[in-house]
Amino acid sequence: MFKDLEGKVVVVTGASSGLGRAIAKRFGQEKAKVVINYYKNEGKSDELIGEIKEAGGEAVKVQGDVSKEEDVKKIIQFAIDTYGTLDVMVNNAGIQNEVPTEELSLDDWNKVISTNLTGIFVGSREAIAYMLKNDIKGSIINMSSVHQIIPWPHFAHYAASKGGIKMLSETLALEFAPHGIRVNCLAPGAINTPINKEKFSDPAAKEEVLKMIPLNKIGEPEEVAAAAVWLASEEASYVTGTTLYIDGGMTNYPSFQAGKG
Ligand code: NAI
Repeated sequence: MFKDLEGKVVVVTGASSGLGRAIAKRFGQEKAKVVINYYKNEGKSDELIGEIKEAGGEAVKVQGDVSKEEDVKKIIQFAIDTYGTLDVMVNNAGIQNEVPTEELSLDDWNKVISTNLTGIFVGSREAIAYMLKNDIKGSIINMSSVHQIIPWPHFAHYAASKGGIKMLSETLALEFAPHGIRVNCLAPGAINTPINKEKFSDPAAKEEVLKMIPLNKIGEPEEVAAAAVWLASEEASYVTGTTLYIDGGMTNYPSFQAGKG
């Protein structure tokens, strides 16, 4: 538990499922005031609010599409109006779809970039502007992926968005360090969430993924949530402009395992 997170106001985008859900729940368990942004699944957000309240935390929900500037502004304003401030912004919402690049339409490209990258840009900008104005030494946590450094054929738009998140976050970290605002990335790999449901429900496909993970297991959302609360806490007060990989070692060149190469 991180005592300093108690009472902190935390926004989590895309929080009705998967990693966002686990992160919002963990902040709730830390007794933070959690603003759950959902896109389409209001019912799941209500369930989550119930779970957070049961754990002794506070939470509210707000609908919004992070690919729309006005919606991101609305989400942040809602947090400020509801809880009076903003301390932690977790830009988590993201999408992916598989398309060979020679067939990748501009529409698909724009959809992924505007949700994954532009959404994080606007979310970070709005949160930082509020923190600067109110002298808040806040924390921005941006959900990247192992694909910020591992190229991914058929997912060129996704990999480009995640590479962009890395450089955006490092730049913001440098720009706002003098104000005590920290900006970091989480980079998960192969976590058991709806985004991977199809792949992991096929035993052969799951086996192929496991071969790329030195720890030989699929990660759980709670393992990413644990990293998120640490990054937001005072315990990580000297950490900015970096990426925390939560990937079972996937980025450690597993093909070199057992002395190969
Ligand atoms: P998920 O599909 O359960 O979660 C994505 C969430 O984003 C959903 O709640 C969805 O409603 C929301 N969302 C989608 N478009 C939105 C929009 N325009 N506005 C607001 N919300 C929107 O999958 P997961 O795994 O929880 O993904 C969360 C983040 O983690 C994504 O950014 C993803 O790229 C990243 N990630 C996940 C990995 C994994 O293995 N599960 C690995 C690396 C990165």
